Amino acid sequence: MSCHNAYPKFVMGSENKYTDVPQGIDCERCHGPGGEHVRRKQMGENIDTSKYIDYSIVNPGKLSADLQFQICQRCHLQGNAILKNGKSFFDFKPGMQLSEVMDVYLPRYKNADHDFIMASHADRLKQSQCFVVSAKKCQ
Ligand code: HEC
Ligand code: HEC
Repeated sequence: MSCHNAYPKFVMGSENKYTDVPQGIDCERCHGPGGEHVRRKQMGENIDTSKYIDYSIVNPGKLSADLQFQICQRCHLQGNAILKNGKSFFDFKPGMQLSEVMDVYLPRYKNADHDFIMASHADRLKQSQCFVVSAKKCQ
């Protein structure tokens, strides 16, 4: 529910009760809350993003490679996710480290070429020759 959608309105303490379930991923799942951004634009505050960063909203393209990965890994890293104390699956926001909200434990199979969890995209990308070689070049 928290990977195929914008954040739904979950009734805390319930097992599966929602007062609203959106129909698909919204912009905020990758760009963070947009309220402040909209407020500033309506006040006429325009920023030339060819020269400056508009800090009123997260532009994933301006984050470090690691923080970019965190955004995608919120949904594309399926292992055993253990929530940190007091956190819920709806607490992660773009720009944060996923580990502030949850730890994700990934299985290592003997035959890793054939056995892996369906949504292991980020983990498998990071193991690929292409990623390993180009990550080295960046250092
Ligand atoms: C799956 C993640 C994801 C979703 C969902 C998403 N975006 Fe983005 N968006 C990105 C990434 C990544 C970039 C940076 C691309 C780049 O720099 O090459 C970006 C860049 C942008 C930019 C360019 C900002 C700039 O000044 O360079 C705008 C505008 C934008 N997104 C608007 C939206 C809107 C509006 C929605 C919802 C309709 C949306 N995005 C949904 C990931 C996402
Ligand atoms: C809110 C959860 C969520 C986030 C965040 C997210 N994705 Fe996705 N992504 C999905 C889901 C769910 C699908 C599958 C949609 C379907 O098949 O109907 C998907 C599909 C994809 C696909 C297509 C895969 C295929 O086999 O066709 C790519 C590529 C992808 N995402 C890349 C990214 C990247 C890169 C980011 C980070 C910038 C990102 N996603 C962030 C949930 C997410």
